[in-house]
Amino acid sequence: MDAPQDNAPTTHFGFAEVPLATKQAMVDDVFHSVANRYDLMNDLMSAGLHRAWKDALVAAVNPPKEPGPSRVDPPGESLGRAFSVLDLAGGTGDVAFRLLKAGGPATQVTVVDINADMLAVGRDRAAARSLEGITFVEGNAEALPFADRSFDAVTIAFGIRNVPRIAAALAEARRVLAIGGRFLCLEFSTVDVPGLDRLYDLYSFNVIPALGRMVTGDAEAYRYLVESIRRFPPPESFAGMMRAAGLARVSFQPMTGGIVALHSGWRL
Ligand SMILES: C[S@@+](CC[C@H](N)C(=O)[O-])C[C@H]1O[C@@H](n2cnc3c(N)ncnc32)[C@H](O)[C@@H]1O
Repeated sequence: MDAPQDNAPTTHFGFAEVPLATKQAMVDDVFHSVANRYDLMNDLMSAGLHRAWKDALVAAVNPPKEPGPSRVDPPGESLGRAFSVLDLAGGTGDVAFRLLKAGGPATQVTVVDINADMLAVGRDRAAARSLEGITFVEGNAEALPFADRSFDAVTIAFGIRNVPRIAAALAEARRVLAIGGRFLCLEFSTVDVPGLDRLYDLYSFNVIPALGRMVTGDAEAYRYLVESIRRFPPPESFAGMMRAAGLARVSFQPMTGGIVALHSGWRL
């Protein structure tokens, strides 16, 4: 699968080829439609596995328990600021809540998502848990409303394949990272275990859209989900896109037979 190009006239929306300029609105419709049932569907579809995958992402971020020198402090000066994480395409806040739990009061998380309905679910969940240290911002990962070098870590879970201009989003992630900061991207990947690949296809194309219809009333949204996973570049190719965006020491770790991969890169 070729890596998608930001300047191509068309791109894919699931298996369909669509004008690049229209993809975002189509993606937005999907997440408007499923926002209220999004978290429940994640548990049902993955039999709870998404929790373990997100925990692996959070463990890699390794947010400190105590306030300490931040990577955004001026050289030689420790202002004892909180560890600041930007969770891109953070939706209903699931990754952010896990980061806060792992890091404690020394951690601050900013959730950015383009979809107001997903963010509204996240804000309600944060309020119900009386969570502090979390901010929800409506914004586009392709053009972030933050200053250069303002975060210690940038995460994105199951979001990047939905963003029309992936190269722009990667460049923005690098731009807002502090020097020495880490970018971590959890995304569906390429199943490479013989036998598991056929089972996974059967499950994905038959069970998931039917489950989506039952739980959210929208089978098409979940057909898009399954197709978009198949159109996402293989991990080596995505690693190349991360390097092209200027990230360093790029690596990836396949998990669960390649169903997902955790990609890592640094701003050095
Ligand atoms: C599959 S959900 C992932 C949500 C969350 N990260 C999680 O793992 O539960 C994908 C999210 O990407 C968001 N998204 C799509 N395009 C975006 C863009 N250009 N900028 C920011 N967020 C975007 C969607 O609104 C949606 O909330």
